[in-house]
Amino acid sequence: MDQLRVGIVGCGEVVQIIHLPSLYRLADKFRVTAVCDASQEVLDAVGAQWNVSKRYLHYEDLVTAPEVDIVLVANPHVYHASVTLAAVAAGKHVLVEKPAAMNLAECDAVQAAQEHAGAIVQVAYMRRYAPAFEQACTIVGKMRVEGDVRLARVHDVIGHNAQFIKPTARVVRGQDIPQAMLAAGKELEAEAIAQAIGAASKEVQKAYMMMLGLSSHDISAMRELLGMPQRVLHATQRGGLYLTATFDYGAFVCQFDTGVDHLPRFDANLEVFGERKYVRVQYDTPYVLNLPIRLYVSEAHGEHGVVEQMVHPSWGDAFVNEWLALHTNITEQRAPKTSIADYRQDLELFQAMTKLMA
Ligand SMILES: NC(=O)c1ccc[n+]([C@@H]2O[C@H](COP(=O)([O-])OP(=O)(O)OC[C@H]3O[C@@H](n4cnc5c(N)ncnc54)[C@H](O)[C@@H]3O)[C@@H](O)[C@H]2O)c1
Repeated sequence: MDQLRVGIVGCGEVVQIIHLPSLYRLADKFRVTAVCDASQEVLDAVGAQWNVSKRYLHYEDLVTAPEVDIVLVANPHVYHASVTLAAVAAGKHVLVEKPAAMNLAECDAVQAAQEHAGAIVQVAYMRRYAPAFEQACTIVGKMRVEGDVRLARVHDVIGHNAQFIKPTARVVRGQDIPQAMLAAGKELEAEAIAQAIGAASKEVQKAYMMMLGLSSHDISAMRELLGMPQRVLHATQRGGLYLTATFDYGAFVCQFDTGVDHLPRFDANLEVFGERKYVRVQYDTPYVLNLPIRLYVSEAHGEHGVVEQMVHPSWGDAFVNEWLALHTNITEQRAPKTSIADYRQDLELFQAMTKLMA
């Protein structure tokens, strides 16, 4: 009874490299019963490799299929809200990849539908399910209660995904999606961005996509660690790919910087500075499974010394933890911490940031 049946919409990179192996690792809890992709080539290759016989070209058919309890939404950003809405309307639970929605209107529609149906909709912010991050939240939570947070910093500068993926994984990509469908997707994306941020320069539009795609991980983790900031003091971008922002927390500020370059390393971390304590969570690329996510804590020792700790709480992958949390949330009817309402706060901050960038 505990084994939940998963249907996957969009079977590209993240599904082939990460989600399918994570679900295989959790075969006592999940079984992939259906896959959907707009590319017949991808659908056939992934279906054959993972022995999934129910294969759909159209998500409407997968979300209403009787063999599916949970829909994993992992097709391009612009379709996430519509697939989630269709899945919830069909009585399914959802794990939706970030960004869960392109703008506030989409987000509110998903939240209303989720509340109406009583479905679990969990946003796939796996970094927030890493044990090292959760331990950091406990430590920083105490610092916040004591008023001891003096400064915080969120940093995420990484190489292009292909620099990690090409040498370590094999991904089947389809060349058979109709041009008209690709063009319609681009048009929908432009409309959704315009709805979010109004008329903006090409660079600011690109920066907004960067926020939805990469910064959503950083900003949502920042919110869980430190709470929602009072306001955004400053935000700027260069080339749409390098962003900085300063978040006002009243007693302290949190400095954010991010960028994507061609140096094949993944440097994403959150840092919190207290009077006598320093905490850092350090992430590595998600595309190589089970890489350690580490917690570093330094504390003053007496007047003249320092004690440094490096904590790697357990081997395992944050995506597996995210799926385990989803299983518990569904079987025990608990609201996910990465809910759609929680995601809304990221969108609110992105809107404030893009306003300052303009
Ligand atoms: N949590 C994470 O760390 C993480 C990492 C990577 C990607 N993602 C998210 O996952 C999503 C997919 O990313 P990806 O890198 O796998 O992209 P991708 O382009 O490799 O895969 C997308 C797949 O969706 C298919 N597709 C396109 N339109 C479709 C439609 N209308 N219906 C069904 N299938 C369709 C494509 O054929 C392709 O196979 C993105 O939204 C991305 O933000 C999350």
